[in-house]
Amino acid sequence: MTDTLIAPPADNVQTLTIRQPDDWHIHLRDGEMLKFCADFTARQFNRAIVMPNLSPPITTEAMGAAYRERIYAALPEGRTFEPLMTAYLTDTIDPNEITNGHKNGVFTACKLYPANATTNSAAGVTDVKKIYPVLEKMQEIDMPLLVHGEVVSPDIDIFDREAVFLEQILGPAIKAFPRLRVVLEHITTEDSVRFVEDGPDTLAATITAHHLRIDRNDMFKGGIRPHAYCLPVAKRAYHKEALRKAAVSGNPKFFLGTDTAPHQKKDKEAACGCAGIFSAPNALESYAQTFEEMGAIDRLEGFASEFGPRFYQMPLNEGTVTLTRKPQPIPELLTAPGIEIVPFHAGEQMSWTFDESATTA
Ligand code: NCD
Ligand code: ZN
Repeated sequence: MTDTLIAPPADNVQTLTIRQPDDWHIHLRDGEMLKFCADFTARQFNRAIVMPNLSPPITTEAMGAAYRERIYAALPEGRTFEPLMTAYLTDTIDPNEITNGHKNGVFTACKLYPANATTNSAAGVTDVKKIYPVLEKMQEIDMPLLVHGEVVSPDIDIFDREAVFLEQILGPAIKAFPRLRVVLEHITTEDSVRFVEDGPDTLAATITAHHLRIDRNDMFKGGIRPHAYCLPVAKRAYHKEALRKAAVSGNPKFFLGTDTAPHQKKDKEAACGCAGIFSAPNALESYAQTFEEMGAIDRLEGFASEFGPRFYQMPLNEGTVTLTRKPQPIPELLTAPGIEIVPFHAGEQMSWTFDESATTA
């Protein structure tokens, strides 16, 4: 933190200006949905790691480059935003696509989805050993691996899938590739917090805005609440507390990644509803609210704007963003022709408002 950017103490602060943050895990989708969603992220964040779980998934350099162009085209004129692209690992992905894509500045990282773990992951990896040769190459070229950390065996309880993944898959993989930089994405358990804290410096984790605010009870408050359903699924309250402590701890191994994952309202409010929470519209406000509740608003800048770029070995952003203490009612529904999405915090009043006009380059 530089002197000029230090956030004032929480009690009577009316505006909060921090170095512009980046979002290290987002879903932007494609087509009309991409056009609708992209700027919600781009107005708050300077860079974002874009997930490759399209249908079909992004598995070649050409696909990654073309998707990046579609993202740029979806942004309003004059918006500066850098999408950082990822390749979707499959059992049979061509390692040259990854290494060339990295060398040519298309792919920042690779994403490991265990097959069928989440939305559009059917083409994911069936056995991590199958991609060990790819991980070897990634280690060699120092390309980060981003991990959806859940096992998928039907005999493992859904609430245990993350913890079992650490033991069965991630632990051995980290030992096998001690120089590979790994981000355990959207952690949801105390087990993951400890695993990352105790792990090597090559291991870090992202924490979403929603896992800092909801636990598994929120999915069943007075009835079933599909808009609180995401993957990995929210766990018991004590896990949420562990995540909140980790996020505000100042430990640089934990940084911001919203996992904003838009789905149409009708696809979530269904007999078999989709997993994903659309947090992009008020992501920073949500994190700020949590950090303030934790008495740690002065730690937000490290978590949101410094630890991520340091891990990814990228320069810190030079610009700033500002939040103002102004009550903000969050709409129940966001709409565009053919699109209806229920955002995170729908119907709530938030205590901070993002002031776009105060953003500096
Ligand atoms: C994501 C999506 O919808 O693409 N859903 C989610 O619940 N987070 C996929 C993912 O990141 O697991
Ligand atoms: Zn995700």
